[in-house]
Amino acid sequence: MSAVLVIGGAGYIGAHTCKALSEAGHQPVVFDNLSSGFEDAVRWGPLVLGDIREPSALRAAILDHAVTAIVHFASLIEVGRSMTQPDIFYDVNVVGTLNLLNALRGTAVTRLVFSSSAAVYGQSGASPLELLSESLPKEPSSPYGDTKLTCERMIAGYCRAYGLSSVALRYFNAAGADASGIIGEAHDPETHLIPLAIGAALGTRKPLTVFGADFATPDGSCLRDYIHVNDLATAHIAALRLDMRQGGFEAVNVGVGEGRSVFEVISAVERVTGRPVPYQVGERRGGDPASLVANPALAHALLGWKAQHSALGQITRDAAAWHMAPAYGADPGIRSPP
Ligand code: UFG
Repeated sequence: MSAVLVIGGAGYIGAHTCKALSEAGHQPVVFDNLSSGFEDAVRWGPLVLGDIREPSALRAAILDHAVTAIVHFASLIEVGRSMTQPDIFYDVNVVGTLNLLNALRGTAVTRLVFSSSAAVYGQSGASPLELLSESLPKEPSSPYGDTKLTCERMIAGYCRAYGLSSVALRYFNAAGADASGIIGEAHDPETHLIPLAIGAALGTRKPLTVFGADFATPDGSCLRDYIHVNDLATAHIAALRLDMRQGGFEAVNVGVGEGRSVFEVISAVERVTGRPVPYQVGERRGGDPASLVANPALAHALLGWKAQHSALGQITRDAAAWHMAPAYGADPGIRSPP
């Protein structure tokens, strides 16, 4: 069984990937500072408490656990916050990744899978509704997206120079939860549409604000490519197994290829909860592009990977089940569902 260091493995996508790694015969070793992850989400291997801003802690974890591959999730993720606090985004996301690249040099690690993001594209399509292919020019519209693009470029450079091979997975909008009910999405503060819409429907959160209904999209609200977290998880297994030359670097979209609007998500949440989602239309949120929808052809061709569980009905059903009975992370400040 090969040991895979999962940096940020106590977080939402990290925990689902640890489960998938374990099911695929790997031994996940989680490295996390628990700043936004949960100890209760670490169930498939040991937890090493540490921070990516401490290079010596990273190197010790790699050597102590005879790690040969790394999946790197740990980062700050809120697009809106990155507009007002870019300093900590560059520190955690860029400096943290640089520390990791330096820590793994000269070890037995040969493969790095990096959590990148659709946010690297910004509004770079020829038209706002164009499907985004990996080769498009990258024009991140937020410091968050810029940190991910910067990391990709650093990783590609380290691969060329030091013989590592790496796949950057550009996630579109992760959502849903594992059907087991033992792991799910628990961000604090929560800024993502689907959990906020579910909370609004259940009466555990305030009514939703739709951030702008005047975009150049069919119903005026933003389009996103929502992908089930378990589909994202299996993309990491495929990326770890990809046959690559030493020094190779690939950046691959992980999405469904279909855009769903904020209003469509609201309707889906109303269907699965059987309750109306109270909402009002507000101002646009800084840094939000009108549309972020993947062209997933490269993931199909290169990784042999395709989304299997990402119908909006399944995503919202699985997410609602988790939010009605979260195993951890319930915000004590919010009311229980009636
Ligand atoms: N939205 C609302 N109201 C809310 C929250 C969100 O209208 O209260 C809208 C946003 O404007 C956006 C859509 O719902 O149009 C989705 O917003 P999320 O905050 O759920 O997700 P983002 O698209 O902003 O960002 C997510 C991840 C990023 C990642 C990006 C890639 O948080 O890390 O997907 O597509 F980069």
